Amino acid sequence: MSDVGSISIEDGIGVLTIDNPPVNALGLRARQALRDGFAQLTADDSVRAIVLICAGRTFFAGADISEFGKPIEQPDLAAVFGIVENATKPVIAAIHGTALGGGYETALVCHYRIAVPSAKVGLPEVNLGLLPGAGGTQRLPRVVGVEAALEIIGGGKPIPAKKALEYGMIDALAEEGKLREDAIAFAKKIVVERAPLLRVRDREDKIAPARGHPEIYADYLKKNARAFRGYKAPGNIAKAVEASVESPDFETGMTREHALFEELLNSTESAAQRYYFFAERETGKVPDVPSGTPTIDIVRVGVIGAGTMGGGIAMNFLNVGTPVTLVEMTQEALDRGIGVIRRNYEATAKKGRMTDAQVEQRMALITPALGLEALADVDLVIEAVFEEIGIKKDVFGKLDAICKQGAILASNTSFLDLDEIAAATKRPEWVVGLHFFSPANVMRLLEVVRGRKTSKEVVATAMKLAKAIGKVPVLAGVCYGFIANRIMRPYMTGADDLVLEGPTPPEVDKAIYDYGFAMGPFQMIDLVGLDVIGRGGNERTLGGDLVKRDRLGQKKNGGFYDYDERRNATFSPVAAEVIADLARHKGVENKGGLPADAIVARLLYPVVNEGAKVLQEGIALRASDIDVAAILGYNWPIYTGGPMFWADTVGLDKVVEGLRAMGIEPAEILVGKAKAGERFTR
Ligand code: 3HC
Ligand code: NAI
Repeated sequence: MSDVGSISIEDGIGVLTIDNPPVNALGLRARQALRDGFAQLTADDSVRAIVLICAGRTFFAGADISEFGKPIEQPDLAAVFGIVENATKPVIAAIHGTALGGGYETALVCHYRIAVPSAKVGLPEVNLGLLPGAGGTQRLPRVVGVEAALEIIGGGKPIPAKKALEYGMIDALAEEGKLREDAIAFAKKIVVERAPLLRVRDREDKIAPARGHPEIYADYLKKNARAFRGYKAPGNIAKAVEASVESPDFETGMTREHALFEELLNSTESAAQRYYFFAERETGKVPDVPSGTPTIDIVRVGVIGAGTMGGGIAMNFLNVGTPVTLVEMTQEALDRGIGVIRRNYEATAKKGRMTDAQVEQRMALITPALGLEALADVDLVIEAVFEEIGIKKDVFGKLDAICKQGAILASNTSFLDLDEIAAATKRPEWVVGLHFFSPANVMRLLEVVRGRKTSKEVVATAMKLAKAIGKVPVLAGVCYGFIANRIMRPYMTGADDLVLEGPTPPEVDKAIYDYGFAMGPFQMIDLVGLDVIGRGGNERTLGGDLVKRDRLGQKKNGGFYDYDERRNATFSPVAAEVIADLARHKGVENKGGLPADAIVARLLYPVVNEGAKVLQEGIALRASDIDVAAILGYNWPIYTGGPMFWADTVGLDKVVEGLRAMGIEPAEILVGKAKAGERFTR
């Protein structure tokens, strides 16, 4: 047997243990171990039933995603599943950790399933742009019914064991920490009671009621149209589940599932989502800060400024039980900031996602303060005051005098020079940027900005801390806007330039929406407020001109659009006039409309180019970090893989050509890669 499997026999129960770290993915060696283990245990007459269990932190976490796109070596999952499901002795899956995707599909070919209460089971393939391709779409409906199967497979969320028991996805709960014993006891009971070898594939009762009801699938897709927009997998999932009901026999359904799976596997959307899965897990790795680098314990945190960002930043720490000292300039600002935090928690409690007691527990972790002196013994300070270099330097100078040695001094600045801020202290090696995105308690991106002198310990601590509060850390060097804000600037300014040349804001917004963003640039400006975004310097801008006419966006008089009382938008004649007027003022000739793909290229190629520069300058460690920043910071559609992956799919030579046609000089690294036929991403 391959070395990841081992066998023991206790009182006539054969236990096959698979140990394939880190997460028991079903790669070749795990599949071989299953095949060989079952061969041995079924051949052994002393064995009356088989328990399948995993060592380490989890039951099988699914197929080995890194094998996708390569030829699969035998035995494949289908072959192994045939062996398990057709075993002549009862097979019991014993689940801990997460039985996901091919992992839960493995459990579904066992005759019985038992799990500890802390376990979760599910079919998350949709998150990789796939469907459960090892029988999940055919077997789950037979266990939970069609509607529930659509929700579970289309939603892709792991289901906690207790809920899974209610659904029938597992048959019994084991005592926490006693999975092996309880699974063996369960197996013995099956043997004694001569319980049948229940094959899920033979069940009909749950799917029969759905037969002849094609509207179930159409309704499901319609109900989730917004969430599914742009994704390929949900449509195929609905078709595969329908096949579980409507196929003349199980095998025909399996053949249909396989074809629908292959179609997804070969799609750009799934390639992008699988790329993203690994990209998100790679951001935490910093080559010159290896995983053993010492880190600083963060027991108490200080946050300066309780405005838009400070409050949300504080919540991240309160959520994990870390006390926060919150500093403001006036009692009024402090009360307002703390009030917002409380209302946020109360809203969550109202939705039933936390208890009133938890709200109070978290609020009790806040120590309000009116002076920086209160920060004398915190381990980490995060400054979120106004975006002005003078004010930030003043605050950091004071912190240097007040904070204990060994405290990390962090700034949430969006654009300012972190090295200049650090230079206001005598301990620049303790200064780092922690750049949260708004709303800071929700958005998962955290840019960790490494200054020229930031120490490795501080970088390592920041990366670790990010994960502890549920963020995805992306390391950035110092430059104007770091990664996400910097690369997206040409997109925002480009949109303004573009409408002067002819395409209208609705045309631009539609092209960008259809590409996959939640909204186009002008819809976004109207939503955020032109006074917030549109403030130009001395130069005239569209936003500035609209603000002069008292059009601030949705909050006042409309902006690029007029809004009726139900927030339906129509392109504003005033905005059209402002655009024409500014075009005249700047001497820009109206060249008429553009096709959607040209609008997309015009606005997004410059983002790719800026990303290339960020890479070339060493601001980002890797192209995939830029994609993670764009996806998590700006909701760039994940099924395109982010700007750099998308550029690879478009073809870098085409991007270079497009940029030159716009009069933009492509970054050297972009030209070099295009010439060499290389890609930014793997
Ligand atoms: N295949 C290959 N590698 C995997 C993997 C998988 N299915 N799941 C996790 N890994 C790797 C990760 O890349 C990571 O590698 P690294 O240490 O080199 O960065 C390592 O295992 C640990 O993963 P996490 O950091 O994510 O560990 P966590 O403890 O935070 O989470 C987990 C564990 C919940 C299992 C999470 O890894 C996860 O969600 N995995 C993916 C589950 C999944 O999508 N399964 C379906 C796969 S597709 C499938 O089964 C198709 C089938 O229907 C035919
Ligand atoms: P804000 O204006 O909402 O809040 C700033 C708060 O800081 C105010 O409540 C103010 O009273 C307080 N403050 C100012 N000086 C202070 C001092 N010396 N001591 C104590 N409190 C002081 O601003 P916002 O939007 O929260 O921005 C804060 C920082 O976060 C800025 O650097 C900004 O660039 C950055 N940022 C903002 C994002 C956003 O979307 N708003 C996103 C990411 C970063």
